[in-house]
Amino acid sequence: MEFNSKNEPSFLKVLNFLKTHDTEYLSGQDLSDVLRISRVAIWKSIKKIEELGYKIETKQKVGYKLVEKPKTIFPWELSSGLKTKFMGHTIYYFDEIDSTQRFSHEIANKENNGAIIIATQQNSGKGRIGRKWVSRNGGIYFSAVLFPKFDISFATVFPMAASLALAKTIEKLCEIKPELKWPNDVTIKGEKVAGILVDVSLQSNKIDYLILGIGINFDINEKEVQKELKKTPNFYGVKSLGEFSKNIQPVKFLQTLLQEIETIYFQLESKEIEKITKEWTKRSSTIGKNIKIPTEEGIIQGKATKIENDGALVVENKNKSSRIIAGDVVHLEK
Ligand code: BTN
Repeated sequence: MEFNSKNEPSFLKVLNFLKTHDTEYLSGQDLSDVLRISRVAIWKSIKKIEELGYKIETKQKVGYKLVEKPKTIFPWELSSGLKTKFMGHTIYYFDEIDSTQRFSHEIANKENNGAIIIATQQNSGKGRIGRKWVSRNGGIYFSAVLFPKFDISFATVFPMAASLALAKTIEKLCEIKPELKWPNDVTIKGEKVAGILVDVSLQSNKIDYLILGIGINFDINEKEVQKELKKTPNFYGVKSLGEFSKNIQPVKFLQTLLQEIETIYFQLESKEIEKITKEWTKRSSTIGKNIKIPTEEGIIQGKATKIENDGALVVENKNKSSRIIAGDVVHLEK
């Protein structure tokens, strides 16, 4: 099943009407008269809406009443109340896809800035460094197609900036303060709650487009995912936001996140990098710790002392100071 915000499905009129009149029962005849749709079309719409997971109470000879919405991030739910200037103004939704990241590359060149692709499940979710991203029901998985006006040198800061947006969203909505692990992992009590993957397509040394992919363990079964991932190198545990986000609907979470991403995107376009690295450092679980990073040239070990304005991590030990651009950090102390 898939939807695209550019083509409104035919049942949406009925659904919107039920939503705005959810304290009363509406008869098929009333719906048909007001919406100028046949009784048969009303009945078909009701069936479709129920199939999508909405709960409709039906009273014989009285009518229909919408009593519950599903948790699914359908495009029409995300758009309603979304206050961004451009993020998420085009939305693709898939209940199942291989990877929203892969699909984004396919459509990037004909899309608007900020188009997003959401999936309830991914069968071949992609993680950093060629790893897989387990994407079962209950998580939030999406990619955004972006055409930033900032310089290519900012592309390395972007993943960090996105992790900051995610941390701010969690702080706003959930009862927990997450940590940021360099370069862009969001953790809770040291375990991974979300991952960020940024692909940049270049043309003549300029950013052609950028795909920002985010996977959030919103309300997943930690044990099941853990079992699947425990053999991954440098694996350090999976955390679900579930216990901290009980009353938060995924739609509300994603709307807030898109707004935070947009704010940070504008900050990058106006070169406010220091503001971003400062806020990131405040939440960092890496700076100040003894760490190691396996690189192609060998293991770099020492104390992580700061983040530079291009997102590089500075690691110092007795003999020297190294600047690391990419890699997997292993914390050597709690
Ligand atoms: C990581 O390894 O930490 C990054 C994980 C990124 C996963 C997201 S889920 C949505 C998007 N589609 C993908 O296939 N991957 C990214």
